[in-house]
Amino acid sequence: MKKIQNAVFITGAGQRIGYYLAKSFLQQGDYPVLFTYRTHRSEVDELKALGAIGFQVDFTAPNALPKLIQQVSESAESLRAMIHNASLWLSDETIAEEGGEKNFNALFQLHVEVPYALNRAFTPLLQSASTPLKDIISLSDANVNRISADHIAYVASKAALQSMTKGFAKKLAPNIKVNDIAPALILFNEGDNEAYKQRRLAQSALGIEPGAEVVWQAVQYLMNSPYTTGSVLVLDGGQK
Ligand SMILES: NC(=O)c1ccc[n+]([C@@H]2O[C@H](COP(=O)([O-])OP(=O)(O)OC[C@H]3O[C@@H](n4cnc5c(N)ncnc54)[C@H](OP(=O)(O)O)[C@@H]3O)[C@@H](O)[C@H]2O)c1
Repeated sequence: MKKIQNAVFITGAGQRIGYYLAKSFLQQGDYPVLFTYRTHRSEVDELKALGAIGFQVDFTAPNALPKLIQQVSESAESLRAMIHNASLWLSDETIAEEGGEKNFNALFQLHVEVPYALNRAFTPLLQSASTPLKDIISLSDANVNRISADHIAYVASKAALQSMTKGFAKKLAPNIKVNDIAPALILFNEGDNEAYKQRRLAQSALGIEPGAEVVWQAVQYLMNSPYTTGSVLVLDGGQK
């Protein structure tokens, strides 16, 4: 099989924001798409039908990372961009109740270990892209600046992700830009009740659920900017 060139690689693209980004790249962008998914949903088939190459992976499974690194390396000769989107949103209460150490570790695997390992593994593929700009973009969380009392582990893992972004930006300059997008409310989850929704909407100055399009716009800005690296682009509708 001929390897693809200048691909965009997105983790966790089987639903919601990751799926929206992958689909937008396929429909509007200039680059082929590689993506990971954990659960097989109709969105995965849709992305594949549009030409994307998908790898099913659970990043908490033993040997998942080396296998994925090999699969991507066998499929792509070069990467135009890599987007660290895969994520788990867990409260401290859920960690305590349902899985203890396993859930705690999963947060740090997904938000710290996986992006760290993929940045190191795929630096040569990014450097090989024929485009003048090459990007790594992570998705963290605006709550890193708001520190909540009930998602301490989750926010700490996303803070580590932001910190890594700044470190890799220095390490990989000037060839590869490394930036982070820190969203607050983008999309409600299925099952969020009306009271919760109103409370969340009231937290931002603009007071809307903007949808994944604003993340796509942020990704476009970062990929097109020749002068932005090591930055955290906050997408929070304005703090109140
Ligand atoms: N949506 C928001 O309002 C919001 C707000 C703040 C920050 N963000 C950040 O923006 C990004 C996208 O948000 P989202 O709401 O679209 O996230 P999401 O719906 O939770 O999707 C994240 C993806 O990560 C995958 N994933 C979870 N655990 C995994 C594992 N162990 N191995 C492999 N993949 C795994 C999930 O796979 P499955 O399909 O199997 O579940 C899911 O498709 C995330 O990084 C999130 O933290 C979003």
